Amino acid sequence: AQVMQAEFVKSSVTTEDCPSDGFPEFALVGRSNVGKSSLLNSLVRRKKLALTSKKPGKTQCINHFRINDSWYLVDLPGYGFAAAPHELRTDWDKFTKDYFLNRSTLVSVFLLIDASIPAKKIDLEYASWLGQNQIPMTLIFTKCDKRKKRKNGGKRPEENVLDFQDLIRDFFQTVPPWIMTSSVTNQGRDEILLHMAQLRNY
Ligand code: GTP
Ligand code: MG
Repeated sequence: AQVMQAEFVKSSVTTEDCPSDGFPEFALVGRSNVGKSSLLNSLVRRKKLALTSKKPGKTQCINHFRINDSWYLVDLPGYGFAAAPHELRTDWDKFTKDYFLNRSTLVSVFLLIDASIPAKKIDLEYASWLGQNQIPMTLIFTKCDKRKKRKNGGKRPEENVLDFQDLIRDFFQTVPPWIMTSSVTNQGRDEILLHMAQLRNY
């Protein structure tokens, strides 16, 4: 399940513009700054294949990266970035949701949740939107390397993960598959790649 080869293919802002070779793909989605682009780099063992930033709002398009010449990882703009101009945010929301609903080669969405802070309402809302639209998802908890901080509610990542799962369970009656990760220590990398390989082979 390891990545031997990874290359950037293209940026798109409509579903129609996305690559048309029919390879299966997995999309990374989550709040701005949650660590989507960093996770992609961790998965492919390259520091700067996808561009990252301390400031939210870095990724602005649907970015396709072809892996081992046979499947795609897709980096997306984040949601919930209040400081972005309103029109930009609406655009991102429109084209990412259109992509989720209409991209026939999308195997599963990987919804990233920041485990270093308490659960956010917007993440639950996003999970429920995906659920209502029957889009298969895996929960990826990010930043599990971060130590608890009083300003972040004083809980360890493990506790935030359990809290989020409780909220999801109240809503869905079940919890989707989930993986704890860190792009700093590469925790969860092999588990994610194995999970993606299993999903591709269905
Ligand atoms: P947008 O493209 O703006 O939506 O953000 P993104 O979700 O792609 O986040 P990005 O990967 O750019 O990372 C945002 C910030 O979080 C950067 O400063 C990263 O270094 C940091 N970061 C990402 N993943 C981790 C992690 O696992 N642990 C820690 N400690 N920091 C992380
Ligand atoms: Mg990004």
